[in-house]
Amino acid sequence: MALLALHLFSALAFVVSSSSATSIISQIGVCYGQLGNNLPTPSKSIQLLQKLNATGVKLYDADPNILNALNGTKIHITVMVPNELIINISSNQTLADQWVQHNVVPYYPRAMIRYILVGNEVLSYNFKPLWFYLVPAMKKIHLSTETFGLSSIKVGTPLAIDVVESSVLLPSNGTFRSDISNKIMKPLLQFLNSTKSFFFIDVYPYFEWASKPNSISLDYTLFAAQNVTFKDPVSGLIYRNLLDQMLDSVVFAMNKLGYPSIPLFIAETGWPNDGDIDQIGANIYNAATYNRNLVKKFTAKPLVGTPARPGANISVNIFALYNENQKPGPSTERHFGLLHANGTNVYDIDLSGKTPDSTYSPLPQPTNNKPYKGKIWCVVAQGASWTELGRELDFACGQDNRTCEAIRPGGKCYKPNWFVLHASYAFSSYWAQFRQTGETCFFNGLAVQTSKDPSYLSCQFPSVNL
Ligand SMILES: *[C@@H]1O[C@H](CO)[C@@H](O)[C@H](O)[C@H]1NC(C)=O
Ligand SMILES: *[C@@H]1O[C@H](CO)[C@@H](O)[C@H](O)[C@H]1NC(C)=O
Ligand SMILES: *[C@@H]1O[C@H](CO)[C@@H](O)[C@H](O)[C@H]1NC(C)=O
Ligand SMILES: *[C@@H]1O[C@H](CO)[C@@H](O)[C@H](O)[C@H]1NC(C)=O
Ligand SMILES: *[C@@H]1O[C@H](CO)[C@@H](O)[C@H](O)[C@H]1NC(C)=O
Ligand SMILES: *[C@@H]1O[C@H](CO)[C@@H](O)[C@H](O)[C@H]1NC(C)=O
Ligand SMILES: *[C@@H]1O[C@H](CO)[C@@H](O)[C@H](O)[C@H]1NC(C)=O
Ligand SMILES: *[C@@H]1O[C@H](CO)[C@@H](O)[C@H](O)[C@H]1NC(C)=O
Ligand SMILES: *[C@@H]1O[C@H](CO)[C@@H](O)[C@H](O)[C@H]1NC(C)=O
Ligand SMILES: *[C@@H]1O[C@H](CO)[C@@H](O)[C@H](O)[C@H]1NC(C)=O
Repeated sequence: MALLALHLFSALAFVVSSSSATSIISQIGVCYGQLGNNLPTPSKSIQLLQKLNATGVKLYDADPNILNALNGTKIHITVMVPNELIINISSNQTLADQWVQHNVVPYYPRAMIRYILVGNEVLSYNFKPLWFYLVPAMKKIHLSTETFGLSSIKVGTPLAIDVVESSVLLPSNGTFRSDISNKIMKPLLQFLNSTKSFFFIDVYPYFEWASKPNSISLDYTLFAAQNVTFKDPVSGLIYRNLLDQMLDSVVFAMNKLGYPSIPLFIAETGWPNDGDIDQIGANIYNAATYNRNLVKKFTAKPLVGTPARPGANISVNIFALYNENQKPGPSTERHFGLLHANGTNVYDIDLSGKTPDSTYSPLPQPTNNKPYKGKIWCVVAQGASWTELGRELDFACGQDNRTCEAIRPGGKCYKPNWFVLHASYAFSSYWAQFRQTGETCFFNGLAVQTSKDPSYLSCQFPSVNL
């Protein structure tokens, strides 16, 4: 009897809340990464999230300090099971139960945990050893949520767009990679469909555009094109922005495997607000434009969806809350934040989508929307610590004995024998030699790109020529 009453009550509550004008349209959340040594505390960070009007937050783990700070808020929370645990959890229900009991149960329901994502981009090539453990691990975590009565929690896994093998620019041809399609995607979709979960996708039109800036319109990528459209020749659907093309390539790929109704959830998207000289389009103007227009698209009433799924409810997490100074890789990686590490906005943004752009302060005009042409060097950044510099210098000179020939005694760049000058030479030389193979001008944060030639006298610094 009590149970029946409860069911009736929740059914009623559902009707009321879904027709209420104040209920959230689709979730606009923020990814709360913590790869910085200068970030605000969890409780301050949650205040900042609320000030941004975020309705969701995605954590890359289940940090107890953050979950405690979310206690009593209305923010919908995503927690993640780290890749390292997938293999063990996949074959051990006790371990899955322990993970949920330890990382979710103590905070639920006062911290509104709604999604548990198992792993991060596991079906990309670098995690190949985990591929076959993913779905079994998800099933075990899902069973744990049932065991503990956590019925409002969905279990999923965020995948990168590289699960699509065909060009994302031709949505109707969307096909999952043949190495995962039958053996992993089918069981995964079967699981997501039967548990009424979501297909969580990390999707970055920025990278797609930046790799082909001459053939894709920037305005189209920023949801700002008045007159650029793409008509898919097979489906006849008309596209007005790049994100929709990428999302629909996933939709068509799911359709081909017989799962046309699993909802999409954008687990991550975003745009860098700064970057290296060789990184086109990474600037505040584009980042603000992309994220503001993204929010408007997904909070529009009625719901817009995509051309293949008009009116669909698609929730979004924007990457990321902060510029994170300890993320490795190219400079863009450290500049996806809505906020600086000191908690101030990089640009104005209201994640409720209610503030008109006209009320925001003007944005700085972009200067790097065209590919950089010329030479670039990689030199020691201001304020680099000498101890760390020694380690990075040894690294740069240790890969190939030609890299540092010129700064050895008798070499053209040996004199003046200044440590920082030698390190700059080594960085430039290493980067010029290995950029083709994907090496970046980073050296653990001690290096920056420059377009100003550091060469002197008869010492020529090797350069990257674009
Ligand atoms: C859209 O989906 C989100 C997340 O699942 C949900 O919270 C929201 O209520 C849905 N909105 C509508 C209008 O159905
Ligand atoms: C997985 O299980 C093995 C065997 O019990 C153990 O040695 C290993 O430390 C576990 N791995 C992790 C990441 O917990
Ligand atoms: C499963 O995990 C539990 C909890 O960590 C551990 O005690 C047990 O030994 C594991 N079982 C197997 C078969 O590895
Ligand atoms: C959450 O807040 C409530 C009310 O203040 C408190 O009773 C509860 O212990 C808190 N939960 C956690 C996990 O701290
Ligand atoms: C469609 O995608 C497949 C890969 O799944 C590819 O081989 C084929 O060339 C694509 N067709 C077109 C017209 O792009
Ligand atoms: C997916 O789920 C729906 C609704 O639960 C069900 O009707 C359909 O048969 C499922 N599709 C497959 C291929 O299992
Ligand atoms: C499209 O619109 C832009 C301005 O938004 C304009 O510069 C451009 O000439 C237009 N292109 C065409 C083909 O009409
Ligand atoms: C916050 O950090 C940014 C970027 O380093 C800087 O431009 C800004 O002046 C800082 N603001 C405050 C109030 O410290
Ligand atoms: C958040 O929403 C409120 C109410 O709509 C609005 O007044 C406020 O300006 C918004 N916050 C931001 C950062 O735009
Ligand atoms: C540089 O390294 C190569 C192969 O590692 C070796 O054959 C060569 O002798 C080295 N040259 C010098 C000058 O040490």
